Amino acid sequence: MNTIFSASWIKPARQRKNTVINFKKSFTVKPFPVKALLHITSLGVYNCEINGKSVTSSVLNPGWTDYNKRIQYQTYDVTELIEKENTVSVGVGIGWRFHNWYDLSSDIISFGNVALLATLSITYENGEEVNICTDSSWTYTEDKVRYNHMYNGETVDFNFIPRKSLPVKVIPYTKATLIPQEGEFITEQEVIRGKELIITPEGDTVIDFGQEITGYISFYLTADKGDTVKIRHFEKLTKEGNVYTENLRSAKQELTLISDGKCHLIKPLYTFYGFRYIAIDGMKDVSPDEFTAIVVHSDMKRTGHFNCSDDMINQLFHNIIWGQKGNFLDVPTDCPQRDERLGWTGDAQVFCKVASYNFNVEKFFRKWMGDLRAMQKPSGSIPSFVPTKYDDHGGSSAWADVATILPWQMYLTYGNKELLRENYSLMKNWVDFMRSYALKKKPEEGISTDPYLYEGHWHFGDWLALDLPDKEAVEGATEKDLIGSAFFAYSTSLLIKASEVLGIDCRYYKNLYRNIRKSFIKKYIDENGKIKCDTQTACVLALHFGLYENKEPLASQLTSLVKGFGHLTTGFVGTPYLLHVLSDIGETELAYELLVRDEFPSWCYPITQGATTMWERWNGYKPDGSFATPDMNSFNHYAYGAVGDWMYEKMCGIRQKEGTAGFTDIVFAPLTSNRFTFAEASIETVNGKVASRWERSGKKTEYTFTVPEKTCAIALINGKKYVLNTGINKITE
Ligand code: BGC
Repeated sequence: MNTIFSASWIKPARQRKNTVINFKKSFTVKPFPVKALLHITSLGVYNCEINGKSVTSSVLNPGWTDYNKRIQYQTYDVTELIEKENTVSVGVGIGWRFHNWYDLSSDIISFGNVALLATLSITYENGEEVNICTDSSWTYTEDKVRYNHMYNGETVDFNFIPRKSLPVKVIPYTKATLIPQEGEFITEQEVIRGKELIITPEGDTVIDFGQEITGYISFYLTADKGDTVKIRHFEKLTKEGNVYTENLRSAKQELTLISDGKCHLIKPLYTFYGFRYIAIDGMKDVSPDEFTAIVVHSDMKRTGHFNCSDDMINQLFHNIIWGQKGNFLDVPTDCPQRDERLGWTGDAQVFCKVASYNFNVEKFFRKWMGDLRAMQKPSGSIPSFVPTKYDDHGGSSAWADVATILPWQMYLTYGNKELLRENYSLMKNWVDFMRSYALKKKPEEGISTDPYLYEGHWHFGDWLALDLPDKEAVEGATEKDLIGSAFFAYSTSLLIKASEVLGIDCRYYKNLYRNIRKSFIKKYIDENGKIKCDTQTACVLALHFGLYENKEPLASQLTSLVKGFGHLTTGFVGTPYLLHVLSDIGETELAYELLVRDEFPSWCYPITQGATTMWERWNGYKPDGSFATPDMNSFNHYAYGAVGDWMYEKMCGIRQKEGTAGFTDIVFAPLTSNRFTFAEASIETVNGKVASRWERSGKKTEYTFTVPEKTCAIALINGKKYVLNTGINKITE
């Protein structure tokens, strides 16, 4: 068993709210250990040094899980850091310990302190092993980081002199929830220098980094002793050019520094910020290149690239990538800035396909699917965000369907059956939940009693759709019960596919699926084959999920809805599939029209307003320079970036043969458009690099397809089929 289990949880005997605690232990070793391994975790986030040198190149450890259910510990090889006389010192901040929802201060008071668990395991040449474990011999002091909070930031007082070290308290906290590190480590990824210094009309000193990021800043603080420097982090300037922080809601996103008159290299260790701009108060003679923004995210390998002849679409792709960078910190979050930053299941569901093309997210999502399994209710329902301490029974369609959609997509992209096996119960329990809910309905509640429709449950609806007269409304016009039953069918179909891959008998679910479809058609399709709920999202779901075999009437209904509005009206539920459906029904040019449109509402409108990440709302910042409601208006929300998977799969045509996974059988079927002279994309798949490019010259188009070894590939172009070879294939049509 790992020696971390021999250690005891320790906490400070007393802790002022939100201070960072420094735990310490000094010890001597015999000459000379051949190996030293540190196993460590904390309730909070830790920053560990041995003899003044940092133990980890990652940050915000031990990451984020529901610590009551599972908590990751990390193991580091620290052999090189060990000397004869040693001191281990571990700062522990609040981190995600109480991270939940809006203002957390009351939680913090009622939950108490941070805690640490660690074992330094030292092995000598003769095989002797000595374990230095956290126990009552450790001491602690308060740190100069006088305040830390994930939403509000940090306050560092360089004048703070801790009182003498005090003995820690050993607490009987459980070790049964410990798990070795599962996810990717969160690391510092890149550094962006300040681009421009702005003095706002209101007189604030602002630095623009030119890119919205998630992370923190670094710079050298030089100020007089006792001076306070306050830095606010924010996303947008108002139309007048002033600092805009209202959309952060209660999150302060500040860094406050109290100088001791000496020069210090500043870099927060216990928090992160979502920002493009900083406003600096209390520092003279500021120059933008003295400040760097450090981009922090889970250490996922970049796998996907896209480029085309239209700069606007290239910027859109850039924004999709940055939406992912900004929201993949151990957990896929909705946004990195306001008092939310939660693992919203719907957002992850919508974005997981393109996420898996852009970066290798197998390990990242494998860990989070572990969180989902841990948080699945005994009923099979899934909370709306994970991890959560909020008493949320979830169960909203398109959000809770992450339970089937995510494992299935990870299997498709990475071809790893283990992922499916591990999450089969997650998928099945969720489908079973919907089925038992459908069976339980009571006629006196005025809800249909069809046992094959997932109706009457609470749902988020087509979140942020634009098909209600009130453009600030959040739930859209598509009937929630329709969405519920459409996803009931879809999730059941994915469970069937997973069962078939794993060789599990699924006759019951095949039957269930047939019945859901029948009931769906009976209730929602009219005598002309159209969907009664006349919205783009309703058509899109029926078509994309294959709920009605006669596609023609639905296709013409969708086409006229899109043409009638002249733009999309879909929200979180319909948007990811809209362009796929349009190109599948032969309306590729209409799909392109929506893709390149740059007036509100569209994917490119935010780009005309200088966006460097995806926005939460189609109308986050309006043409007249006003903002959408600050109640919910993030400028770094990846969900609508799901359009990126259409760019890989349809625009550049990188697809997989139906029934295969892990890119063993590739189908190149690009859908070109006269609006572009070229487009290209590549994905570093588990079977090698797959790339596709098309370039028009005159009436001809030249296609270049790259096929990795040991895979099969065909190209489908203008109704013709080409069998491709390993390596580079060129076709002119
Ligand atoms: C989040 C969303 C989430 C939604 C639930 C919002 O506050 O930011 O992205 O999916 O709530 O509908």
